[in-house]
Parts: sequence; C-alpha cells; structure tokens
Amino acid sequence: MAVRYEFIKECKQSGARLGRLHTPHGVIETPIFMPVGTQATVKTISPEELKEMEAQIILSNTYHLFLRPGHELVKEAGGLHKFMNWDRPILTDSGGFQVFSLSNLRKITEEGVNFRSHLNGEKLFIGPETAMEIQNALGADIIMAFDECPPYPADKSYVKASTDRTYRWLKRCMEAHTRSDEQALFGIVQGGMHEDLRQEAAKQLVDLDLPGYAIGGLSVGESKEMMYEVLSYTTPHLPQNKARYLMGVGSPDALIQGAIQGIDLFDCVLPTRIARNGTTMTSQGRLVVRNAKYARDFTPLDPNCDCYTCRNYSRAYIRHLIKADETFGLRLTSYHNLYFLLDLMDKVRDAIRNDRLLDFRDEFMIQYYGSLH
Ligand code: GUN
Ligand code: ZN
Repeated sequence: MAVRYEFIKECKQSGARLGRLHTPHGVIETPIFMPVGTQATVKTISPEELKEMEAQIILSNTYHLFLRPGHELVKEAGGLHKFMNWDRPILTDSGGFQVFSLSNLRKITEEGVNFRSHLNGEKLFIGPETAMEIQNALGADIIMAFDECPPYPADKSYVKASTDRTYRWLKRCMEAHTRSDEQALFGIVQGGMHEDLRQEAAKQLVDLDLPGYAIGGLSVGESKEMMYEVLSYTTPHLPQNKARYLMGVGSPDALIQGAIQGIDLFDCVLPTRIARNGTTMTSQGRLVVRNAKYARDFTPLDPNCDCYTCRNYSRAYIRHLIKADETFGLRLTSYHNLYFLLDLMDKVRDAIRNDRLLDFRDEFMIQYYGSLH
C-alpha cells in the first residue's frame, strides 16, 4: 500500500490520536493541517518557504489543474511534485466539490457531472473514471474519490440518493485507479447531517478496506455544534489503523475540536484567503492589520510568534503595503497565518503527547476567542 497510518498514542484526557502517516514522499506527523495549493502553488508562498515553516503536506485540486494547464501537461513535466518543485507529500482533491462550487450549468447524472468551465465556458465532463485518470497523471501521494458534497440544507431523500451515488462512484474509482502502489485512494463519508446515513456510509466504506477515510459534506453552512455532533457519530465507525481526514475545515477552534474527535488531517483555504484581505490570526485572536489603528503600530503582528514575518516586519509596515496594493504585504500575512496554524498543530500534538489536550483547548479558547466557546 502507498500510504500507511501508524498509531502512536491516544491522549488520555481527550481521546485525540497522535500518529504518523507514511507516504512515498516522506512521513507526516499527525494531527496536521495541510496548506491549500489549488493551482499547484500555495498562493504567494514558495515551496522553500513552506519547508521553512515546516509544512509537511499540501493539497492541490484536480478541477483547477484539469482546466489549466491540463493533467497531460503536468504528467509530461514529470508529475505534480516535479512540476511545482515540492518533494514532500501532496494530496489532491477529486474535483467533485470544486465542480459544484465554481462551474456554471453543472448537471449531475449517474455517469458524472457535465459542467461549463468557470474560465472560458467550455463544456466539460468529470466522472469517477476521469477523476482517477487526472489524479493518476498528477501523481499525488493521496488521491480522493469522486463524490458529491450535498448542499445544506437539503431534503433527507436527496442526501440519501446522493450518498448512495457517491458510494457507487467510489467503486468505479477503485476500478479505474491504476497506480495503487504509489497513490493511496481515500474514500469520502457523506450523509449530510443524518446519523443513520453517515453510519451506513461509514460502514460501506470501511468494508472496502481503503487506505484512508475522509469526512466530507461539513463546513457547508451548518453550525459548529452540528459539525461536532456529526463527527461524534461518524468517527467511531472508522477503523483505528487508518488515517481520517476532515475536509475543508481550518478555523483554530475546529482544528482543536476535530483532533479531540479523532481527526488526523485537515485542510482549508481560510488562513491564506483571509491573509489576502489583511486579516491575521494571532495568539490573542484575529487581528485586521488593515485597520487604521495599526497605522503607527511598530510592533509585530503577534509578539508571541517567531515566524519570518513577525521577526522582521511591523504591523504599520504590513498595513502600509496592503493599503498600497503591494503584493509583498500579502506574502507577509499569508506566511504568518500558515505558520500560525502549523504551529497550532505542533502544540496540539504536544498536548496529546502529554495527555492534556482538553486543558490546552480551554487555554487556547480563552486566549484566542476570549471565552470557552
Ligand atoms: N472539500 C470540502 N468538503 C468536501 C467534500 O465533501 N468533498 C470533496 N471532494 N472535497 C471537499
Ligand atoms: Zn508570525
């Protein structure tokens, strides 16, 4: 198998898992946050900088790379790792989710999804076999099954039909996958906010003995409480000896709570997206460095941070760059935000090691949000 999850220990206080994920491009310590590099780049940040901040794995997108520059071209370059000069692990999402959130005139059938490119309106199709062909060409260490993330809210009957179809698509993905020695195919548990549907989906997937399992269909507009409730009745059905990935979740509180509920991998565009509009995450909570009150503030973004940005630049300077539309400002805030979340996960792993993740969560929540929830 291309990927193997090694369980190290459980936090006695919270039940969170400490582990290692062995991949063809190296070992990942979990729980971990994956920076998002949608178009074969983590926006504004170089691979060398990602290594400097100790990013262990990044995520990229099938949908975007299929549209531009095309998976054939990436394959010709020697695969995604070589194309973008990143030699650590990569995970690619399957395109299902992006087709629904970005493209126009999408139409879903048993075969797959017909849609129009958000770039030029071209008529295109992605189904389970196409998603595997594209991801096999890109060559990521972990590839995702082609799924549908049902909208929220949705009728239970729709969610049931969609979840059943996602399962049939998964079996077609397994059939079409040609590189299982080098690339691990993870299945995605759907089922909306319904306990019976989630449980059935989890059991069906576990019976297929996949190298890892993702939980999809969350962070789609439901409350945090509801997301945690769905996790509470989904993760117990997943095997101890396989990695678990919570898709599209990356707020600091949800990363900690997700780890407590047994999640090993997370990804989200949040840190880089908010960075590009001048919002940063600091040990004292969110700081909108664009604000006028920082015009003469010559202290770092976060006095408790030792990242490249905070060691060298002030709030006043970064605010000036962003106000003047200088791209260096966006690089500095993106660097800091990614560093902040990677460092947070480092602290989470340390707290698990010391059986004190619940204490750590409470301390963090007070510092960051000013209250326990
Ligand atoms: N990213 C966030 N949520 C999802 C999901 O449900 N499916 C896929 N494929 N990607 C996601
Ligand atoms: Zn910093």
